Amino acid sequence: MKLSRAHRILIFDSGIGGLSISDEIQALLPQVAMVYVADNRTYPYGTLSEQALIDRMVNLFPSLIDRFQPEAIVIACNSASTLVLEHLRKTTDIPVIGVVPAIKPAAQQTESRVIGLLATPGTVRRAYTDRLVSDFANHCQVIKVGSRELVDEAEKKLRGHAVSISVLTTTLQPLLSQPELDQVVLGCTHFPFLKPELQQVLGDKVQLIDSGEAIARRTRYILNSLADASNKTTTNTDDLKADHFIFTKDHLSAHELVPHLVKHGYQQVEFIDQ
Ligand code: DGL
Repeated sequence: MKLSRAHRILIFDSGIGGLSISDEIQALLPQVAMVYVADNRTYPYGTLSEQALIDRMVNLFPSLIDRFQPEAIVIACNSASTLVLEHLRKTTDIPVIGVVPAIKPAAQQTESRVIGLLATPGTVRRAYTDRLVSDFANHCQVIKVGSRELVDEAEKKLRGHAVSISVLTTTLQPLLSQPELDQVVLGCTHFPFLKPELQQVLGDKVQLIDSGEAIARRTRYILNSLADASNKTTTNTDDLKADHFIFTKDHLSAHELVPHLVKHGYQQVEFIDQ
């Protein structure tokens, strides 16, 4: 069956980071309808305690699923995916696609065997991330940098504000002190928006790797498998004809973002109090 606007996915992040994933999905699957939920009420996820993050997402999702009836969910957040996937999957039969740091391709591509992981403080601490490193990058030295400041810089940039190169330079110090470094994994979906500035600070010899394209391909695979398995056409409700962006809290800083969301394909914006 051909994918169409009758096929809807729900993309989720704490803030604007998931737009780096949603851009890739839209490029590959322009015909699929998207609902994006930004949990700005609980932003940032990268500094939340693990239990608080699990509780928040497990409590929030049933009503989102109930209202939007997505065919697949993309947790476009490494901080959440490295922790909450198994908990969420227990609550729903809908396929849940996670975004986790691209350690494997970085470890395959490195020549120097020195790679960096740039992520949130939560992601660099997770047992899941340790497993990724021991499964795929055991032959490498992996330098982990956890930063909340870079997440804020990306949020600022998407609102049209200048990025602070001095914040980036200070944050990247542990990587800058490694002359052999040749790959840096962008293990937070916010960070692809800072690519030009990160490249400027890290220099051209360092390759930046993110998970966006791989997630878009995975999403296409899942939707195609679902479409092949069923002849039923999903009913798309009228109020969701345009791609839909939801904030979980009505806040000034969210309003500042609204004019910029159109560039990412989101024509309808809604604030829910949840
Ligand atoms: N974009 C998210 C990630 O990939 C979360 C950033 C945050 O809220 O701390 O980790």
